[in-house]
Amino acid sequence: MTTASHGLSSRIDEVRGKATEALTTVADIERLHAWERRWLGPKGEITTMLRSLGSLPKEDRPTAGRDAQALRVELESAFAPVRESIERQELDRRLTSESVDVTLPGRKPDIGAMHPVSAMIDELIEVFALLGFQAVFGPEVETGRYNFDLLNIPADHPARDVWDTIIVDDPTEEIVMRTHTSPMQARTMERLDPPVRVIVPGRTYRYEAQDASHEWMFTQLEGLIVDTNITMTDLKGVLQELARQLFGPERRIRFRCDFFPFVEPGVDFAVDCAICKGKGCRVCKQSGWLEMGGAGMVHPNVLRGVGYDPEKYTGFAFGLGIERLVMMKYGVDDLRAFNSNDLRFLKKFATIPI
Ligand code: FA5
Repeated sequence: MTTASHGLSSRIDEVRGKATEALTTVADIERLHAWERRWLGPKGEITTMLRSLGSLPKEDRPTAGRDAQALRVELESAFAPVRESIERQELDRRLTSESVDVTLPGRKPDIGAMHPVSAMIDELIEVFALLGFQAVFGPEVETGRYNFDLLNIPADHPARDVWDTIIVDDPTEEIVMRTHTSPMQARTMERLDPPVRVIVPGRTYRYEAQDASHEWMFTQLEGLIVDTNITMTDLKGVLQELARQLFGPERRIRFRCDFFPFVEPGVDFAVDCAICKGKGCRVCKQSGWLEMGGAGMVHPNVLRGVGYDPEKYTGFAFGLGIERLVMMKYGVDDLRAFNSNDLRFLKKFATIPI
């Protein structure tokens, strides 16, 4: 035996001693894997030893190789029962900790409910269907042409600033988030010949500070009728009927002069408060009246803009805030609640049938 092979044989004894001792301390699955990696793995001590055989004198290699292989077999058979026992323990542990008690009652899934604003849109569509209106829907991203120009609000008109507009950056054209549902007036009239009788529910956007009665994103309902012989009386009748259908048969409405460039004459309209019956309360801010929206007779310039003859046709239009209607109907005093994602608030409306 040469000196080199003598060195290897003492290394084999050393590895045997250390590996056997380390195996007695293996108590869990992590240490089991670590032990296997260190002693039997592809980068482990035995493999390294076998690789180093090449550096021994030729005549010593067979014996040294045999001894190292014998050590591998010896360690493998010492390792096998330890592995089996630890793997069994691990399986038992997982079976107990991850067990499912099939006798427990199931978890009740949360069932969604109609959002109060969506429910109000459905209710409005139904009420207006009875009055002969068809519901149409339009784009929320609009061009300046439909949001302003065709509504008799030219580019240099100060009224254009009244609507705090969110501009969508586009160098080629004026693109805005629609500030109201009124752009659908021109879009509808361009597509249809009179008689026109539509409502347009949908989201609208304004660059506006939020408070209890203002949101930067809210929902409006537009109404438009164009036909021969339409008058203010028809407008009043429709809005009166709407107030009764939504808030009860004894409701009254109030018209006051207001200015919107796309109607002439223009009004704002309010309904007497259904909660205090017009006496004054927290919801109507002691006034007895709740503002619903703006309205008026369609301006001749708007009719002309879409190719209708204002000598032959007249019409009325109105626009109201849907969140405000829900607030009036259910006595909600803060409009921000609708988009707050607060389940405690939304669950109060869970009884509205879907
Ligand atoms: C308009 O937007 C007009 N387009 C309405 C109209 C249509 C007039 C057709 C004439 C003919 P106004 O800016 O007043 O008008 O808004 C109408 C309604 O939307 C308001 O009465 C209010 O109920 C609601 N509203 C307006 N701004 C907000 C806001 N920031 N948050 C919530 N609701 C709002």
